[in-house]
Amino acid sequence: MASLQASCTVLSTNPRTHSSSSTQPLSAKPSHLFTNPRRSHRFQVSCDAKKNVETSQGKIDRRNMLLGLGGMYSAANLVSNPSAYADPVQAPDFTKCGDAHDVATGALLDAKCCPPLPDKIIDYEIPKFQLFRLRPAAHRASKEQVAKYEKAIQAMRDLDTSDPQDPRGFMQQANIHCAYCNGAHDQVGFNNLDLQVHNSWLFFPFHRWYLYFYERILGKLINDPTFALPFWNWDNPKGMTLPPIFDNPNSSLYDAKRDPKNTGSAIVDLTFSGSTDNLQLVANNLTSIYSEMVRSVSTTTDFVGKPYCAGSNPSPGGGSSENGSHTGIHWWVGTKDTTGPNKFNEDMGNFYSAGRDPVFYCHHSNVDRMWTIWREVVQNNIPKDITSSNYLNAEFLFYDENKRLVRVKAGDCFDQRKLGYDYDRIDLPWLNYRPPPKAAKAKVSNISDTKTAASVLPVNLKDTVRIIVPKSAKGKADEQLVLEDIQTDTTKFIKFDVFINDEDDKIEELDRAEYAGSFAQVPHKSKNTEGKATISLKLTDVYDDIDVSEDDTIVVTIVPRSNGQDVTIGGIKVIPVPKQAQSS
Ligand code: C2O
Repeated sequence: MASLQASCTVLSTNPRTHSSSSTQPLSAKPSHLFTNPRRSHRFQVSCDAKKNVETSQGKIDRRNMLLGLGGMYSAANLVSNPSAYADPVQAPDFTKCGDAHDVATGALLDAKCCPPLPDKIIDYEIPKFQLFRLRPAAHRASKEQVAKYEKAIQAMRDLDTSDPQDPRGFMQQANIHCAYCNGAHDQVGFNNLDLQVHNSWLFFPFHRWYLYFYERILGKLINDPTFALPFWNWDNPKGMTLPPIFDNPNSSLYDAKRDPKNTGSAIVDLTFSGSTDNLQLVANNLTSIYSEMVRSVSTTTDFVGKPYCAGSNPSPGGGSSENGSHTGIHWWVGTKDTTGPNKFNEDMGNFYSAGRDPVFYCHHSNVDRMWTIWREVVQNNIPKDITSSNYLNAEFLFYDENKRLVRVKAGDCFDQRKLGYDYDRIDLPWLNYRPPPKAAKAKVSNISDTKTAASVLPVNLKDTVRIIVPKSAKGKADEQLVLEDIQTDTTKFIKFDVFINDEDDKIEELDRAEYAGSFAQVPHKSKNTEGKATISLKLTDVYDDIDVSEDDTIVVTIVPRSNGQDVTIGGIKVIPVPKQAQSS
């Protein structure tokens, strides 16, 4: 069993009110993701969580109503609980669902995405006997598989007109994403906080369960219990275009709200590099996937995402894969024209509308596949799963293929085979895509315009910045770069890249030893602006490849790729890689 220590620390207790006039401050201290590893030799995962509970008469009345709906919400959530530890995020309360927040004033008048209300909620049990579903790569799917896929999506679309309240309909399914991602659901017990399933450790489990039910619904609608959702194999050069099956205007898989430049034979640009050289694009894509799967990852949360518990601010920090190629595809497919009829990057380029493009589910099928590959194939000697009960017991609600509203737990979905599906095997050209080492030792003195952290932080990323950062120890060290208090305008696509001792500044080329990793974000609206993200990028291999292991300082170059003016970084430091217990 893996033995990664994890806990969510509650930073304040606020039993009376959510208003800012409260005598207890709502703003929480910065989370302490890592205890001093030299002191404790233990990797701590902790939530930046606030404990506040609902005691207003209105909420109590609501609770009675909810208990009448099937007793889904425990009374314990509604009384003051000054416990020292946070709780897992609970399934949302559908009866309190509100409009998703507008992405920009007046722009999204149709962003009402609450689900139908249930009679009752059932704790989901994975069927013991079921036919296996093998998900194919979209570009290799057989004619028969494509025909079934088109038929199933058409059947889903037909439900939108024949029975708009059927939770299995196309728009109802798309709205699940909108509601869980754009502020329609509040956290149960914390109606001042959005429930947000992105930019944290909820990302993989939420989307796995979402696709699981989506796939079963599609299979049910065409009476095929083996129906399997294709995956967009964007991690392989053969899959680095929009899969052709989505590019036929006469197909149910088509969506008009895509960037017209990025269809046909256009090569995917996962990294926002803007390169016009197809070979460079492919190299950048492979480099970015290698980085997010292997090179930049030193702990489980680096890959899976930062802790997010009951009472946490939304978006504490996504995992490397979520930030990386996941965001890249959303950006690349969504419309870029903010003045035309398709405003604000619809459909794929915004959480509220992403589920309206059938390619979303095919993209997320590959995102989910990357999780399976990270757990099963990548050899990195770190625990494959987080074992904190605040992670395992986080809950979501979905309608299943029989229109029953079911409750699932994050911790019950780690093994895709137990869920009855797996992925077709395909080679992984990124798996050993380590950039060639630099020919000569990198020299800090060759880099102009460097600043000290003290003189520049907090720093806005309107322009590229170069910051001198001391290493944590002299000599050979296993270290990571931590960028903290990353504050963004959540309604914008954000991306920046990080390089170490970069003398050349060839920023359109990522396949270089100096590249250390990235941060990126898909636009969404949140009422919570105090949330600040953290990312940690492993430096060990970078040091080797640019031959600076023995130096005392490094220069960190941060290059904005998208909306740098809307990002501020509050902290930057180099620390030893936190020691993590090995899984056994
Ligand atoms: Cu829930 Cu790719 O987003």
